[in-house]
Amino acid sequence: MKANAIILAAGLGTRMKSSIPKVLHELGGKPLIAWSVEACAQALASTPTVVVGPQAPGVREAAGDDCDFVVQEERLGTGHAVLQARDALRDQGGVVIVANADLPFISSETFRSLAARQEGNPGPLTLLVAVSDDPRGFGRIKRDSEGRVAAIVEQAHASEEELAIRELNVGVYAFDADWLWAHIDDLPLSPKGEYYLTDLVSMAADEGGKIETVQVLHQDEIIGINTRVHLAEAEGALRQRVNRRWMESGVTMLDPATTYISLDAEIGRDTVIFPNTHIIGEVRVGQDCKLGPNTTIRDSKIGDGCTVAASVVEGAVLEEQVEIGPFGHLRKGAHLGRGVHMGNYGEVKNSRLEAGVKIGHFSYIGDAHIGENVNIGAGTITCNFDGERKNKTEIGAEAFIGSDTMLVAPLRIGKGARTGAGSVVTKDVPDYGLAVGVPARVIRKLEGRD
Ligand code: UD1
Ligand code: MG
Repeated sequence: MKANAIILAAGLGTRMKSSIPKVLHELGGKPLIAWSVEACAQALASTPTVVVGPQAPGVREAAGDDCDFVVQEERLGTGHAVLQARDALRDQGGVVIVANADLPFISSETFRSLAARQEGNPGPLTLLVAVSDDPRGFGRIKRDSEGRVAAIVEQAHASEEELAIRELNVGVYAFDADWLWAHIDDLPLSPKGEYYLTDLVSMAADEGGKIETVQVLHQDEIIGINTRVHLAEAEGALRQRVNRRWMESGVTMLDPATTYISLDAEIGRDTVIFPNTHIIGEVRVGQDCKLGPNTTIRDSKIGDGCTVAASVVEGAVLEEQVEIGPFGHLRKGAHLGRGVHMGNYGEVKNSRLEAGVKIGHFSYIGDAHIGENVNIGAGTITCNFDGERKNKTEIGAEAFIGSDTMLVAPLRIGKGARTGAGSVVTKDVPDYGLAVGVPARVIRKLEGRD
């Protein structure tokens, strides 16, 4: 099938009351424009042409590399927006799909079935329609006494009787390309001073051309974004869809209404997610984990059997059986080995903690490597920043860091070494050494050790 797509994204989106273009607002962590571009490109196997406004910083980037752009210098309506793509597409014939960019849920199946219907239609166009009791401000499909599509009436210009029509114009159309390009600059100026694409419908009907309709496959495809209320509605619908998929594949959610899972997440079986948990970006969660409540996990990898409670995990890797929280913060580059336990108020950044490390209470570990089974006492801090650069701390396996130790990096604490409570360690401590005081001195080797 030969079909080109035009995506209309040059509108100001005034009803969003925003300083950024409407199509840059995000749904499920992805800008609205990317939703339409991806579905269209997937359905039609052609490069979509996106109509953008003259000042639209970020829209091209958000739309991605897989599309062409044309600029609509003046926002004179959806019909005028389509006209901007004429030079680019005029010679290509076939079917042209036109889609508003504010309809993120239109599926590639729907795009495909619309294009296929128009391909078999001897007339000039096929409309995507939905029947709904909630008109959403959409244009209404007017039919004549024989049930043929006669026109689309915009809500703003509709009579009482027309407002009662339940068949709605979703905002996606399939045209015979030659007919479209021959008629697009005959559109009349609307009472609002715009050229409405929808006026092509009465033009086609007046010529006696056959106008077909295709119903949306899923009712939530008609959630179009004109206001932030619509955006929240779309997030809600998306959340339900994503959460249902994970529950159906074996994940327990105590409260799906407050469980937020990114489209790029993977979650293993028998993992339990407690309320108010946000899984953002690329996250892999293993089996049998307990996540939440009140937890954010972003761009991280969580192994099997981990527990993360009331904590924030960003850019981190947790191997199996790791316990975090409450009130832990793992930052970029934190890598926690098997069975690491980090209790309340711990922060770890750019550090590797080997298996079995314990950090019970209030500690900061930055730019460190901590060997197996080390015990980090309450209040320990790696003083990694000297005002100019970040310095490394190395702690050998089985070491015991006393409560409230300040580890002034760069520093190496030997394996099996100990620091006394409240010590400020500025010099390396040898294997099995015991260092105490401010600044700390090594006072002896631990008994029974070489
Ligand atoms: C439009 C339809 C309406 C339909 C509804 C469903 C028209 C006249 N009306 O109304 O029948 O029910 O969509 O989604 O088409 N745009 C431009 N340039 C412009 C104006 C708009 O590119 O000059 C783009 C916008 O960025 C948007 C799309 O066209 O993506 C639709 O514009 P919008 O203002 O949202 O139209 P609606 O009022 O929703
Ligand atoms: Mg709209």
